Order: sequence, then structure tokens, then C-alpha cells
Amino acid sequence: MTTAVGSLIQHISGLRGQVNKCEVGKNAVYKEIMANQTLENILPTYSGLVQGINQIACKLFQGNSFAVEQVPFDGLSGSVFYQVKDTKADEVLCLAKVFPEDRSYEFLDEVFSLHAYGQHSIPCPKVLDVGLIEENQKKRCVLIEEMIPGDTLKHHIDKLFDCEKGFENREQQMLQVTELFKSLGSSFASFHSKGSSEFAPTDPYVKEHFLGIINNAIEELQNANDEVDEYYGITDKNSFIESLQEYINKSQHLMQKPVPRSYIHADCNFANFIYGKDKQFHLLDTWWGGFSVDKESAPRGNPFLDYMQVINRLWYSYQDDKLTFDEFQKLQTAFQQGYKTNGTIPDEDMQNFYSFIDAMLLLGGVTKYFHVGAKDSIGHLAKYWMTWLEKLLDSQHEIKHVI
Ligand SMILES: Nc1ncnc2c1ncn2[C@@H]1O[C@H](COP(=O)(O)OP(=O)(O)OP(=O)(O)O)[C@@H](O)[C@H]1O
Ligand SMILES: [Mg+2]
Repeated sequence: MTTAVGSLIQHISGLRGQVNKCEVGKNAVYKEIMANQTLENILPTYSGLVQGINQIACKLFQGNSFAVEQVPFDGLSGSVFYQVKDTKADEVLCLAKVFPEDRSYEFLDEVFSLHAYGQHSIPCPKVLDVGLIEENQKKRCVLIEEMIPGDTLKHHIDKLFDCEKGFENREQQMLQVTELFKSLGSSFASFHSKGSSEFAPTDPYVKEHFLGIINNAIEELQNANDEVDEYYGITDKNSFIESLQEYINKSQHLMQKPVPRSYIHADCNFANFIYGKDKQFHLLDTWWGGFSVDKESAPRGNPFLDYMQVINRLWYSYQDDKLTFDEFQKLQTAFQQGYKTNGTIPDEDMQNFYSFIDAMLLLGGVTKYFHVGAKDSIGHLAKYWMTWLEKLLDSQHEIKHVI
């Protein structure tokens, strides 16, 4: 029997064959191809949010004593979560992630990547079912996924931030979090080595994706108004953008170096990893890394982006004064120790280049949404990157003078 998940995977694989470019910034082509196809022909449609989820639950699980409740996971993407509870056993049976109507391309990438990871036993929620939910004449995609018992890495690190620096309870929590980062390192190394043992230059599609991130950020910066420039501390925009381009031209060759062909997550926010009761890290919110999964579900990404993203998110906490420099270094070292058991550590040029891509990703987003909330929520992180970029771009000139 063909399941809705099976039909959808086949459909996405076909679509991916047609897509030459990938989702990034303003690339509407991908979104159109991925989302505007008639999902109605592939997915069963249910009527009403709670009622629809309940119907799916009845199909998936025996019995009918379910409660469908909204859960207060406050993701930024605007998805809403419901849990299906077995009221007799008082047990959560599954989660339903309902995507916003205009973001079904995220749903498609999430389903496709989770499905690929599942085939390699990479810890992540199982996709149990998929469908369309119709409510108020809107159709939204729903992903029914396994609920992973445990806490996010964000939860554990927030607990550390809540302990005052220099106090004994902070030391204790630091020991626990250090172990978690070591474990995260080895989980990532294992994730990055699944599906291929090949070392190859960065895949052309992925290369284009990375260049798309960079070009998108440059375009956003170019179009930004004086208020944004002033906030970032940009005084001479033309020469700043020229230096960025100079760095890109000089560093692009790094993508030709052979690296492991890997699945990557590409959104290594600590709320996207659950440390399960089974003492393993599970990946959530995998749609962003969907570009690292080819149409045959094989890996084609470059793992150095993930590696740097984890370190950069620790660096944000240090910059935010939530971690001391010593703690930042200890956690970074723990992550590296875990990672090198099975993974390749990037050299300094690579580290800078993938941090640069990470910086461009954030700057592009903050600049685009500056006036609609991004300034207040993550604008300060963009400022950290501006200071970092200044140093990076200056050092390229110093090197030029020496030569
Ligand atoms: N399968 C799951 N098991 C347990 N918890 C989950 C699961 N899926 C999501 N969560 C919880 O919900 C939160 C948000 O999930 P997710 O990142 O998928 O949503 P999102 O809306 O894409 O978020 P954002 O845009 O903020 O990254 C997670 O940080 C986690 O706490
Ligand atoms: Mg998330």
C-alpha cells in the first residue's frame, strides 16, 4: 500500500530533479516549484485543525481516547505545534507541526530530509504521517512526527546562564554542559559521515547555495537605508562591499578542496537539538539543511558550515556576556574533542570561510527584516559579525601589503 508519506517523498524527489537552484533569500523559483504544485493531489485533506489531527491520530493509533492540544513551542518560523495525547495512558503519542500556508516549501524540505536521515538511523523524529489541513479556506501542510522525550540543548545551556558566574552551582552545570558539547561533537561527526565516505570538492549545487547566501546578503546590504548602515557602523558602504567581494574572490577556491560529502543541518540553533532521554542528540527543524540532500536522498553538503555554526553560537553567548571567555573555550574544546573522534576539523582558512558564510546568512536575514522585528531580536548578533568582518577584511589587506 502506498502511504501519503511514500507518495510525497516520490513527488519531492521528482520536483528536486527539476529544480536547478535552491531555496535561498529571494530565490522564488524554488519556492514556486516546491510549493505551487498541486499538493492536493498527493496529500489527503482534513477539515479543521484539531478535528483533522484527531482524525489522523485515529488512523495511526488504535483506540479513540485522544486529546489534541496546542503546545506552547514558540518557534520563530510561525509553525504551530499540537500534541496528541492518549488520555487513558496520559502519554504523548505524537506531535503535529502545522506549517504556515505560504511556507509549504519548508514542510517539503523537512519531510524529505527527515525521511533521508531515518534511512541512515540518524537520530531525529520519525515522520509518521503527512496531510493538508483545511481551515478558514486555507490549506496548511501538517507533519505528524514522533515526539522525542528529553530537553533541548538550549534548555541545558540556559540553565547554565541562570547560575551566577563564579558560584559552585555554575561549576556543576558547566561540567554537565561540557559533557553535552562533547557528545554533540561526536553526534555531529557521526551525522556528517552517514551515507557516503567520499571526499569531494563542494557539490556545484551546494556551492551555488552558499554563493546565493553571500550574494543575497550583499544585495540586502546594498539596498539598506542609512538607519541600517548607521546601526551596523558602516560609514563607506561601497568600500565595505568591495572588500567583501575581494574576500569572496580570494577564498572561493576553498570550495574546490575535497571535503566529506555530508548531510548537514545548517541551522544549528541550540533549540534545534534535543538531548533525548536515550542520551542521544536528535536533530529537529531540518528543513534548512534540505539542500544537502540530493534527489536520491544521498548527502551532498559541506560539513564545515555546521561545525562553525555550533562554535559561532557559543561565541554569540560569549559576546552576549552569558559565558566567560574561559567557559566559551572549554565548551568549544569539548565540541572539538567529540567531533574529531570521527570528523574532519577545518583548518583556519576554512573556519574563517564558513564563519563568513554563517555571518552572511545572519546579516542577510537581519537586514531584510530589520524594520519588522529583526533589529530588536537578533540585530545585536549582526553587530558582532560586523566587528568580526572588519578584522577579517583588514587582515586580508595586511597580508596583501606583506606580499
Ligand atoms: N519531535 C519533537 N519532539 C520534541 N520536541 C519537539 C519536536 N519538534 C519540535 N519540538 C520542540 O518545539 C520547538 C520548535 O520546533 P522547530 O524548531 O521544529 O519549530 P520551528 O517553528 O521551525 O522553530 P524555529 O523557526 O524557531 O526554529 C523545539 O525547539 C522543541 O522544543
Ligand atoms: Mg527551530
